Amino acid sequence: MRTDTHHLTAARVTATPRITVVGTGYLGATHAICMAQLGYEVLGVDVDTAKIDALRSGRVPFHEPGLPEALDQAMSTGRLDFTTDFSRAAQFGDIHFLCVGTPQKPGSQAADLRFVEAAATQLAAQITGPALIVGKSTVPVGTAAMLRERVRTLSPAGRALDLAWNPEFLREGFAVQDTLHPDRLVFGVASTWAEQVLRGVYRPILEEGTPVVVSDLATSELVKVAANSFLATKISYINAMAEVCEAVDADVGDLARALAHDDRIGGRFLRPGLGFGGGCLPKDIRAFQHRAREIGAGAAVRFLEDVDAINARRRSRAVELVRELAGGSLLGVRIAALGAAFKPDSDDVRDSPALDVAHRLRREGADVVVYDPEAAENAHRVHPDLPLAASLTEAMRGAQVTVLLTEWDEFREARPESLAALVAEPRILDARDALDARGYTRAGWAYRTLGRPFPPVPSAAHPTSAAVAVREEELELCTAAAEDAEPVPLPAEP
Ligand code: UGA
Repeated sequence: MRTDTHHLTAARVTATPRITVVGTGYLGATHAICMAQLGYEVLGVDVDTAKIDALRSGRVPFHEPGLPEALDQAMSTGRLDFTTDFSRAAQFGDIHFLCVGTPQKPGSQAADLRFVEAAATQLAAQITGPALIVGKSTVPVGTAAMLRERVRTLSPAGRALDLAWNPEFLREGFAVQDTLHPDRLVFGVASTWAEQVLRGVYRPILEEGTPVVVSDLATSELVKVAANSFLATKISYINAMAEVCEAVDADVGDLARALAHDDRIGGRFLRPGLGFGGGCLPKDIRAFQHRAREIGAGAAVRFLEDVDAINARRRSRAVELVRELAGGSLLGVRIAALGAAFKPDSDDVRDSPALDVAHRLRREGADVVVYDPEAAENAHRVHPDLPLAASLTEAMRGAQVTVLLTEWDEFREARPESLAALVAEPRILDARDALDARGYTRAGWAYRTLGRPFPPVPSAAHPTSAAVAVREEELELCTAAAEDAEPVPLPAEP
C-alpha cells in the first residue's frame, strides 16, 4: 500500500514539484530565486527573521550583482515566498533543498554540521508523504548516507522520504549565472527515483546541454571538496612560485603567463597575489583534512596543510612589504588599505586576506584607514576598531603608504596621477597584482607587488625624479619580454 501511494504521489514530485530551500544565505537565497525564475513555486526558509523579512520585502541582505533584479522578477510572479515556519515548509514542499552553512568549528579543522543536521531532522519530523531532501551544503564525506538513514527513520513518511546530494559550485559575484548556467550538475543518489526527481527539477538547465554526473552519495560529497581543494592548490602553487621568484628577483607574473600558454595548465586561478579567502576554500580544505584523517586517508591530502600554509605566508609577506615601503617601521604610519572583502564584487569578509592584512597592520601600530565599496559594514562587525573611510578619496588623503588588498574595479580604474595628488607619500603595494605598474611608476609612485622584482624604494619621503626614472627603465626591461611574446592574459577571476 505504501509503495502504491509512493508511486502515485512520487509522480507528482517528478512532474510539478513544489520546492523549499532551507537556509537563505548566498547559496540558498540565490537557489530559491533562480528556481522560481525557472517556473517553480518556491518557499525559502530560514531561522533568521531579519533575513526572511528582508527577502520578503524584496531586499537581498548581502551584495550579489544581479540578484536584487532577479528577486524582484521572481517576487512579481507570485511564485516565491519566504518563511521562518518549518512546518509550513514541510507541508509545502515536494523537494527540499538544504542550503545551510557548514562553517569551521571553533578550535578545530572540522566542519560544524549542527545546522545541516538540525535542518534535515526538523523537516523530516514533519514530512508525511513522498518527498526528496536534496543536500547542497558542502559536507564531510559520509554525512549524506548518515542523514539519509536518520531522516527515513524519524519521519512519518518513512521510506517514502529519500535524500540525495547535489553539491553547488556557484561563485560569489557570479551566483545567478552559475546557478542558472552551471558548468555541470552532480547528482549523488541512492535510488533511481531520486535521480528521476533531480533530472525533472533541473530539466530546463539540462536541456541547455549542461553535463550531468550521476553517482553515489559519497562521491558527490567528495566532488565538491576535491574541486575546492584543487582550486586552492592551484592558487597556492603560483603563490609558492612567487616566493621562489622573490628569492632570486625573478618575475612571477611572466612565469604565470608562460605557464598559462600550456593548455594542460591553463591560466585560470593562476593569479599570484594575496591568496584565497572567503567562506569556502579555506574551511573546505581544512575540513577535508580532518575528515580524511578520520577515515584513514589523512596521508592522501596532507599536502593541503602546505596549501594553507603558503596561503597564510602571502599575508605575512604583504605586511612585511608594507613595512619596507614605510621605511622599516609601521608605528604611526598612515596607511590607506584598499579593500576588505575576500574578493571583488562581494561584501563577504569571512577569512578575508584583505581584512586580515589591514588588521595586522593596525596591530603593529600603523594608523590604518580601510575603504571597501561594499564590505564596510561587515568589516566593522568583525573589527569594530578598524577605522573605515566612506570613499576612496577619504582613505587616501594623507596616506604615507597605500596597499591594494581587494581588486575592485573602482581601484583598478582610478588614475594614478589623481591618487598621487591625495597622498602624503606615493608608495603603493599592489598585493593583488591588479594595477597598471607602468602607469603608477610614471605617475611618480614607488610601486611594489608580490613576487616581482622592483628597485629598492628610496628612503626620502617623496621619490626623487631620478629614482622614478630608474624604476621606469627597469620596469620597461621587466615587461619587454612579456610584450614581445603573444600576450596570454590571465583571465580575471571572481
Ligand atoms: C569558491 C569556488 O570557486 C566555487 O566553485 C564554490 O562553489 C564556492 O567556493 C563554494 O564552495 O561555495 P568563492 O568562494 O565564491 O567560490 O570564490 P573564488 O572565486 O573561488 O575565489 C576564492 C579566493 O581565491 C578569493 O579570495 C580570490 O581572491 C582568490 N583567488 C582566486 C586568487 O587568489 N587567485 C586566483 O587566481 C583566483
